Amino acid sequence: MPGILWIPQKAGQERDVDMLKELQLFLLGILLLVCVFFYQLNVKSSCLFSCLPPQKSQQDPEALLGHGHGIVFIETSERMEPTPLVSCAVESAAKIYPGQPVAFFMKGLYDTTWLPSNSTYPGFSLLSAIDNVFFFPLDMERLFEDTPLLSWYTRINASVESNWLHVSSDASRLAIIWKYGGIYMDTDVISIRPIPEENFLAAQSSRYSSNGVFGFLPHHPFLWDCMENFVEHYNSEIWGNQGPSLMTRMLRLWCRLGDFQEVSDLRCLNLSFLHPQRFYPISYPEWRRYYEVWDRDLSFNDSYALHLWNYMNKEGMTVVRGSNTLVENLCRKHCPRTYRDLIQGPEGSGTGTLSAGNK
Ligand SMILES: *[C@@H]1O[C@H](CO)[C@@H](O)[C@H](O)[C@H]1NC(C)=O
Ligand SMILES: *[C@@H]1O[C@H](CO)[C@@H](O)[C@H](O)[C@H]1NC(C)=O
Ligand SMILES: *[C@@H]1O[C@H](CO)[C@@H](O)[C@H](O)[C@H]1NC(C)=O
Ligand SMILES: *[C@@H]1O[C@H](CO)[C@@H](O)[C@H](O)[C@H]1NC(C)=O
Repeated sequence: MPGILWIPQKAGQERDVDMLKELQLFLLGILLLVCVFFYQLNVKSSCLFSCLPPQKSQQDPEALLGHGHGIVFIETSERMEPTPLVSCAVESAAKIYPGQPVAFFMKGLYDTTWLPSNSTYPGFSLLSAIDNVFFFPLDMERLFEDTPLLSWYTRINASVESNWLHVSSDASRLAIIWKYGGIYMDTDVISIRPIPEENFLAAQSSRYSSNGVFGFLPHHPFLWDCMENFVEHYNSEIWGNQGPSLMTRMLRLWCRLGDFQEVSDLRCLNLSFLHPQRFYPISYPEWRRYYEVWDRDLSFNDSYALHLWNYMNKEGMTVVRGSNTLVENLCRKHCPRTYRDLIQGPEGSGTGTLSAGNK
């Protein structure tokens, strides 16, 4: 009797095994189809899982940034070693946008195959070691090719222009974001959460735009108009004329600006004008508050990034380890590597020196 019972059981098991094999094959087939589907999708958008190239040696900004997913920083002085604050800005962006390339265009970098040594440039080395941070030489003549800015650039003599570091930075950011798309940020902007917008300007106050953070898809006509206006109304003597004032002028031409209602953004056409809380929860007359100790925790729940107004910091205030200031706590949280390696205690030399990318 046990045998009789045992044989049908075995046959049943064999049937089960066959069915299981069929099921496995079927599932394998589906898996294969899904893989092919996602691979094609990935190739098309090149960004489904990650917008980063397979290896970091890729040195063509067009190939890296051309899909409009890059985060861009610019240094128009010859300085190669970022201050701790600059390092924090770049590191925090790399941390908030892990699958997207963070590109740092530097005037002082002539050749991307040459990398400065570790000990002389600890900040540069720290950033180079981050997977999604890429350095490029800032070659303005090449950058301004095929844009309205080239006629202006070939006409002026850079060595006698006033505010050249700022003016050239204003021009470069327009050209880079027009060509490649993506988000531009000043080097004193600490990222705290992703910006969920494609075409946007950041209000620094009601009806007034900044140019310290903005983002566009490649070849957006708004930026083309900005570059034309830059050339037509060029006057480097007037502070901000090519920067925040230019963005504000153009925005008024494109949109009828009203005041913000509570903490909501404004939209016109396919452009968002983001509420001052998004990047400027502490306004520029109050910039020192970043260097103060607060008696409560600030969540900055309505902000995507914080602009530290470094150009206001003429007295060279620094991030000091152990000071418990707002800026120290922001660094510890949003740029831990910079905090660990570059931010020193009260005796050490610090951050905060004035830089052209920090307006
Ligand atoms: C740079 O120096 C640090 C210590 O100063 C060391 O841990 C690190 O491995 C060095 N990196 C390179 C790429 O040499
Ligand atoms: C630019 O200005 C500097 C300083 O006046 C002068 O030495 C130089 O020759 C000028 N360059 C050109 C191309 O005019
Ligand atoms: C919206 O943005 C695209 C750029 O991606 C631009 O070509 C288009 O003209 C814009 N549409 C409007 C109505 O402004
Ligand atoms: C900020 O957001 C966090 C998490 O979403 C929440 O716990 C906290 O209460 C919020 N703070 C304020 C002031 O709204």
